[in-house]
Amino acid sequence: MDSKRLFLFNTILFFSITVNTAFAQVIAGPMPGHVELRTAKIWVEVKPGSAVELWYWKKNEPASAKQLGKKTPVDSWFAPVTFDIVALDPNTTYEYAVVAGFSSKKPAKADGEFTTLELWQYRKPAPDFSFLTGSCSYFNEPKFDRPGIPYGKDSSIFVSMAKENASFMLWLGDNWYTREVDFFSKWGLWYRASRDRSLPILQPFLRSMPHYAIWDDHDYGPDNGDKSYKFKETSRDVFVNYWANPTYGQDGKGIYSTVNYGDCDFFLMDDRYFRSNDDMAAMAYGQPNPDKRMWGTVQMDWLKNALLHSRAPFKFIVTGSQTLNLSSPYDCLQNYPAEFNELMAFLSAEKINGVLFLTGDRHHSEVIRYDRLSDYTLYDITSSPLTSGVAKVSGKDKENPNRIPNTLVEAQNYTRISLSGKPKERKLTVEFIGVSGNKLTEWSVTEQELKNK
Ligand SMILES: [Fe+2]
Repeated sequence: MDSKRLFLFNTILFFSITVNTAFAQVIAGPMPGHVELRTAKIWVEVKPGSAVELWYWKKNEPASAKQLGKKTPVDSWFAPVTFDIVALDPNTTYEYAVVAGFSSKKPAKADGEFTTLELWQYRKPAPDFSFLTGSCSYFNEPKFDRPGIPYGKDSSIFVSMAKENASFMLWLGDNWYTREVDFFSKWGLWYRASRDRSLPILQPFLRSMPHYAIWDDHDYGPDNGDKSYKFKETSRDVFVNYWANPTYGQDGKGIYSTVNYGDCDFFLMDDRYFRSNDDMAAMAYGQPNPDKRMWGTVQMDWLKNALLHSRAPFKFIVTGSQTLNLSSPYDCLQNYPAEFNELMAFLSAEKINGVLFLTGDRHHSEVIRYDRLSDYTLYDITSSPLTSGVAKVSGKDKENPNRIPNTLVEAQNYTRISLSGKPKERKLTVEFIGVSGNKLTEWSVTEQELKNK
């Protein structure tokens, strides 16, 4: 290469690095998603048209560092990226760091760490562990919010959550709130996810543990959204791109999936994509209306098979709307009696042990019991709100005889659920925790109580 061409080459190289660095910027994350025995997902959002690298290494073994790189399309509105890390060792802690732009050097400092699952099956008892859960996080954006008292409350709850030593966080829906400026356009749906995810107060929590999610109406689209929502495919795209769950529905429809951790199986339900409108008549010709469904026939069939396939002593059916509350004036699976009856008949006929419901949406927390004629009692653990306004219970819900005494929380809170004890004697403890990490109340149930005698 002559000196003139070398000068030109160097100039182009200099400008391409400069331009690349100028546009390179991490907007949100990194955030670990689904972590398995030998694989892990790390999510991050960068600017469109930038390069981004993920570095990872075994903790205390910097020489084991490896990197993955991606380039995001220039012409996309937003550029969330998920890295799939493979060929990891089980039960091993890895550190990771995200670098905007391309780098040939391992970053000096890690952004966070994750630990792959332990291969305990056929070897030792299931591990004790805890996880966090919660729903309804509203972040104010005054120029687009409704006038009046801001709906979003104290976001420092995420600072407390970041300090928890939990195995993962399970978001129960209404994880962000689309407004009028968002849900009338495809771009708006992307904007809301990106803007809320980028808020600085959330970042330490995103990095602190793996995150899983379902959605409810507000992160799906408009209030009480149903299967008729015209942008539901875009909503699904946004959800798929802003979370890092193991899978999203089947055949490109819905967002349902399963997650296993220790001796718990989680059935992550989609209560929006297939949902009939809340106002559809619950009864038709004196019978439960077979057309009114919350999960839809395909997802219900999937759930039944997934429950039968599960050997876990604790089976969490995780869904946005409440499921067992006879006194609720709001949407609840019982307002979909054909589907509710079908599920109850199935659980009894197939003698499915260990079922619990985990729900959100209500803007208060509580544990509701549902006594069955000849089967063990079912419980619905409702966890809400993280940062949105509190809704106090009213009417006949106020004196709900099926609420477990001392479990009602009418304040911002998140939930810590812990599993402990020897095989066959496992205990599940539910703690509702306030903004500053203070325990508000607790309730527990044993593996044996979730079985027919
Ligand atoms: Fe909701």
